[in-house]
Amino acid sequence: MSANDNRHVIEVADPAALAATAAEHVLARTAANRGRVAICLTGGSSPKQLYQLLATESYRNRMPWHRVHWFIGDERFVPASDARNNMTTARGLLLDRVAPASHIHPILTDVASPDESAARYERELKSFHGKDRLDPARPLFDLVLMGVGPDGHTASLFPGYPEVEETTRWVVGVPKANVAPFVARVSLTLPALASCREMLFEAAGEGKRAILTRVFSGERLPAARAHSNGRTVWLVDNAALPGNFRGN
Ligand code: 6PG
Repeated sequence: MSANDNRHVIEVADPAALAATAAEHVLARTAANRGRVAICLTGGSSPKQLYQLLATESYRNRMPWHRVHWFIGDERFVPASDARNNMTTARGLLLDRVAPASHIHPILTDVASPDESAARYERELKSFHGKDRLDPARPLFDLVLMGVGPDGHTASLFPGYPEVEETTRWVVGVPKANVAPFVARVSLTLPALASCREMLFEAAGEGKRAILTRVFSGERLPAARAHSNGRTVWLVDNAALPGNFRGN
């Protein structure tokens, strides 16, 4: 189904099928780039099963770990030792088991403020990219993973917040979250997230159905505005898919 020109919705049976399909997208995007690969991970609970799956033997053996770099699309401004830290979750379930340490690019939270952390991550992304400007011909990321919150936020871009409108900076500090955990955040902006070959949303469970109805109906929520300059894919399980979008 194509809800707009650039959004492809793939319906899967359940969370296990969702993780398996997402894993194939990760492998396909990695295989499509014979050079250095950049993948931007996401926080929240939705990607956990995917991270666990990629750490299993059959998947780890299919992944060229030596040429893949791992970033994170948003971070809760809590210490790396805090279980709510998004990169800590990804490291614990996947990265620390398989990825070279120098290929893991966390958003720092042991700095003075979310703004300082954002400025540093933006510098790191620019240095990795080798350019100060986003180049439509050469996306920053091969793949960006995303989730959607109950208020329609994605990454840490909350509805009605000024950070959603950012057009210049790649990374911003977000002083206050709109949903739990109520800690400051650091988030990539819509233009930085869009600079990818594929953006892959994951949404599973009945609890996501109400917000997906709003997102797919075209409400101007951050999760609806977030898109890839390449391909945007929504992986949605049966329980989450709104009835009127089923089988379209
Ligand atoms: C975070 C996020 C956030 C998340 C959504 C969905 O730091 O919380 O990156 O954007 O992806 O809130 O969260 P769930 O997967 O837990 O539903």
